[in-house]
Amino acid sequence: MQDTDSRNSLTVTDNRTGQSYEIPIDLGAIRSADLRQIKVSPDDFGLLGYDPGYLNTASCKSQITYIDGDKGILRYRGYPIEQLAEKSTFLETAYLLIKGVLPDKERLAVWTYNIRHNTLTHSNVIKFMDGFRYDAHPMGILVGTVGALSTFYADAKNITDEESRKLQVRRLIGKIPTIAAMSYRHSMGFPYVLPEDDLSYTGNFLSMMFRMTEAHYKPNPVLEHALDVLLILHADHEQNCSTSAVRAVGSSGVDPYSALAAGCAALYGPLHGGANEAVIHMLKKIGSLDKVPAFIQSVKDGDGRLMGFGHRVYKNYDPRAKIIKKVAFEVFEETGRSPLLDIALELERIALEDDYFVNRKLYPNVDFYSGLIYQAMGFPLDMFPVLFAIGRVPGWLAQWTEQVQDQEQKIARPRQIYLGEEERAYMPIEVRPKNRIDEQKFGICRL
Ligand code: ACO
Repeated sequence: MQDTDSRNSLTVTDNRTGQSYEIPIDLGAIRSADLRQIKVSPDDFGLLGYDPGYLNTASCKSQITYIDGDKGILRYRGYPIEQLAEKSTFLETAYLLIKGVLPDKERLAVWTYNIRHNTLTHSNVIKFMDGFRYDAHPMGILVGTVGALSTFYADAKNITDEESRKLQVRRLIGKIPTIAAMSYRHSMGFPYVLPEDDLSYTGNFLSMMFRMTEAHYKPNPVLEHALDVLLILHADHEQNCSTSAVRAVGSSGVDPYSALAAGCAALYGPLHGGANEAVIHMLKKIGSLDKVPAFIQSVKDGDGRLMGFGHRVYKNYDPRAKIIKKVAFEVFEETGRSPLLDIALELERIALEDDYFVNRKLYPNVDFYSGLIYQAMGFPLDMFPVLFAIGRVPGWLAQWTEQVQDQEQKIARPRQIYLGEEERAYMPIEVRPKNRIDEQKFGICRL
């Protein structure tokens, strides 16, 4: 019978040398650094793991979000996403993500008060925002402005001070809807709307977005609730691209505003925060129900993808998509049904029966219906990733806070496999031969 230590280990034989190595397994993982002992010669650097896109590399230990992609499970701090979407609010879920427990009544009241009292921005933020071009993309404005907040709160660099960290968390959750709404109003040329204390977090955001000349903005409760649920569904998703960006930048010890600006920048990309917008473009391009079968065929023929379908992690179904579909119907009851919804439903119906999609385990993801909801609520397409960012801020902050306190974390610094030139001597330009191949390779323009 093997002892526990040898059972919890991996025996690797290097066929280049015939040597065997015993590598410990802990929590279902080996430490990549343990591979370094596997060498062909003493001056060999040692074996590396090669993992573009981190398909099978854990970058941290985390207690925040659990996903089982095969079973379609998503839990924040152990609570199923379905229960949170039905029973919680976004601010309560934010508290849960950051503090690890659901608040009691008193703590939720204090938390809500603290967030509300951090919704105003320094008036210079308005001047800063005014400097963006009239047609600036709101996501670009968000990236720049969240980063700029670090210049307003110099105390934020005290990242080892718990009280300072808590203050920055409150500031960021409080200010992000204000900045998001300002980015939209700037692009429309509308005056900015100040936050209002007597509205809910989402109600206040809707007011800052859409209030015009009315004395008091009253958010539609169905839309207010739908947006709150959407924010809950987007609040965290473990080590995705933008969260990894926050952690990587945060690992340098920088303040959380700079780290979250990196998260916003990652979310700006069409493969991450922009897919819901792509769904709307796709539905508009299809145009009518009778064109759906031909479109499905074109996807199967390799001519583009069915946007809002498929997920790197979920191979059964995306639990968020189920909840969103229900919310979509509630919103359309209120706003009137979009003709695009019928096209989406027909696409989903056909795709879920089609072998191409079934065999590849392609199901609707969170983005398939969320864009339709945002559109019905009156949000322009380029605000979709901004809405995603508002929802994701508590997740980013929870992950950043966890990282700052994690003694095992180090500055992010992956290795590479170098395939470039060997050492060569610098050649003065006077004697350097003309190199046409390089010009073609790098597409150099002749001025
Ligand atoms: N439509 C058609 N075919 C698809 C789709 C799709 N949406 N997604 C994957 N496939 C096919 C691929 O062509 C591939 O087929 P093959 O085996 O014949 O080559 C197979 O399914 C596997 O695809 P991969 O690209 O390897 O899957 P991966 O896990 O890397 O990609 C991704 C996941 C990027 C989400 C992909 O499914 C996709 O592009 N979906 C559309 C975009 C989208 O909706 N993104 C939002 C994701 S959710 C989020 O970020 C919040």
